[in-house]
Formats: sequence, C-alpha cells, structure tokens
Amino acid sequence: MRVAIEGKDGSMSDYVQFIEGIKRKTGIDLALYKEAQMKRRLTSLYEKKGYRNFVDFLHALEKDRDLLNEFLDRMTINVSEFYRNGKRWEILQNKIFPMLLQSNKRLKIWSAACSTGEEPYSIAMVLSHHVPLSQVQVLATDIDENVIQKAKLGLYPDRSLAEVPADVKNKYFNKEGQFFKVKDEIKRTVTFKKHNLLKDNYETNCDLIVCRNVMIYFTEEAKDQIYHNFSKSLRSGGILFVGSTEQIFNPARYGFEVEDTFFYRKK
Ligand SMILES: C[S@@+](CC[C@H](N)C(=O)[O-])C[C@H]1O[C@@H](n2cnc3c(N)ncnc32)[C@H](O)[C@@H]1O
Repeated sequence: MRVAIEGKDGSMSDYVQFIEGIKRKTGIDLALYKEAQMKRRLTSLYEKKGYRNFVDFLHALEKDRDLLNEFLDRMTINVSEFYRNGKRWEILQNKIFPMLLQSNKRLKIWSAACSTGEEPYSIAMVLSHHVPLSQVQVLATDIDENVIQKAKLGLYPDRSLAEVPADVKNKYFNKEGQFFKVKDEIKRTVTFKKHNLLKDNYETNCDLIVCRNVMIYFTEEAKDQIYHNFSKSLRSGGILFVGSTEQIFNPARYGFEVEDTFFYRKK
C-alpha cells in the first residue's frame, strides 16, 4: 500500500513531505518501506531529539550531517551475525555450493544488503570448504556507507560469532582483546560497494545471490520489483538465498523453483 498523500485539509501530509525531502537529499525512497514500521522508528528518534513533527525534523536533517547519519542508522536496521540461522548455512555448504560448482569453479556471488559484513565473510568461509580462497570472490553491497566502513574493518564482538563452527573460528579469525578480527585472506575475497536495491542497476549473470533480512522492511510493491530484478540478475540455474522469515509466496511468478527451504533456483 502507498502512503496517504493528503491530510484531512487536502495539504500534503507531514510524513509525505518528509519522504519527498529525504528522497531529494539522499535518493532514498521511504515510500517503498512499510509505513507503520518506519514511522514508528523515526517518530521515536525525532521525539528523542526534541522535534515536533516530520517536517521540523527534515529541516534539521538538511543542515546537520551528524543528525542525518543518525537518521540513516535508524532507518536501516543493521543487525547481523555470522552464519545467521546456522542450519541454512549447512545447506549452502553441503548442497547448494556443490551443485553450483558442478558447472563452474569460479562463482559470481552477490551478498545484497550485507550490513556490517558478517554475511559475505560467512559466504567466503563456507565456499572455502570447496575451492581455494584464490577462487573465491564475493560482491557485497549495502545502501548504508557507515556499515560498509565497519564491514571493511572486519572487527566483531564474540556474540556475532555464536553460530560459527569452532574450526572455522580458529582458522579465519584472530582474537584482538574482546573482539575477533576476520583474517586478511578472507577479507581479500570480498569487495564492498554502495548499492540501493530500490534504485540502482543490478548485477548480471550471478550464480548465487544472498539477500536476507531486508525484504521484511519493504512494501509488497517494492518486494515484487526486487524479486523480478533478482531473477533477471541470476543465470539460469542460479540460486537466490533469502532470510528465514522471507519465504517467497509465489516463486513461479519470478521464474523460480524451490530448491530447498529459503533457497530458490532460477529456471
Ligand atoms: C537487518 S540487515 C541484514 C543484514 C544481513 N543480510 C543479514 O541477514 O544478517 C538489513 C540491511 O539492509 C540494508 N538496507 C536497507 N534498505 C536497503 C536498500 N534499499 N538497499 C540496500 N540495502 C538496504 C540496511 O542498511 C541493513 O544493513
């Protein structure tokens, strides 16, 4: 559903003016994110900062870079972890990768909405069970430049590694005080880039796209468009790996078949 454009008096609603201002300033279209959820998150932020409504907040954001960063932080939920929903990563390792590697030893892999890097680094670690790291290449993208900077640093608290198998933890992380740092040999396999799933061009000829725990924030209309785009991005036989609450309702609509729970194969 689209946002209500007009207030009762016919004027453009406070939130719609905010959406337009943010789109002008950042290129991000908040109208494609679920409205109630986004409004709740942003209202609590502007109230905490002492603003009375979205338009006041917008005027402040236009002048204050730090506040704009705080807004971006609040609108993009960045929670992630290594091997998130561990059982799915076993399927990736034991079924999906062996299948994909049958036709091609150098896979084109895209981790879309990668947040702070746990996901693309996990992909590289899992794939390294099958091919040397010199053959591993993962493109990792996110809309938020702040998380990309953190991802490049590759430094994580213990809790982010809760699902990492012990042998992988020993092999690919160095302990640094309270934190764990991803080793350079893994870091080298991942290229980070800023990318907005709602606006920018998509990759082509991908063997595997991993896009997890971001579709839940988008409207049905936006999701539909993104699944169509992913389908075009995948080569025939390529796989889309989605989050554990993000089953695709009608996969055939996008030319997908279910390969396993939360894995879809492009026909
Ligand atoms: C909850 S995190 C998911 C991270 C990781 N995929 C996982 O499952 O652990 C959602 C990420 O989506 C990103 N995001 C939100 N809107 C986006 C958009 N339009 N295009 C690309 N990334 C977006 C956020 O910046 C955030 O890093």
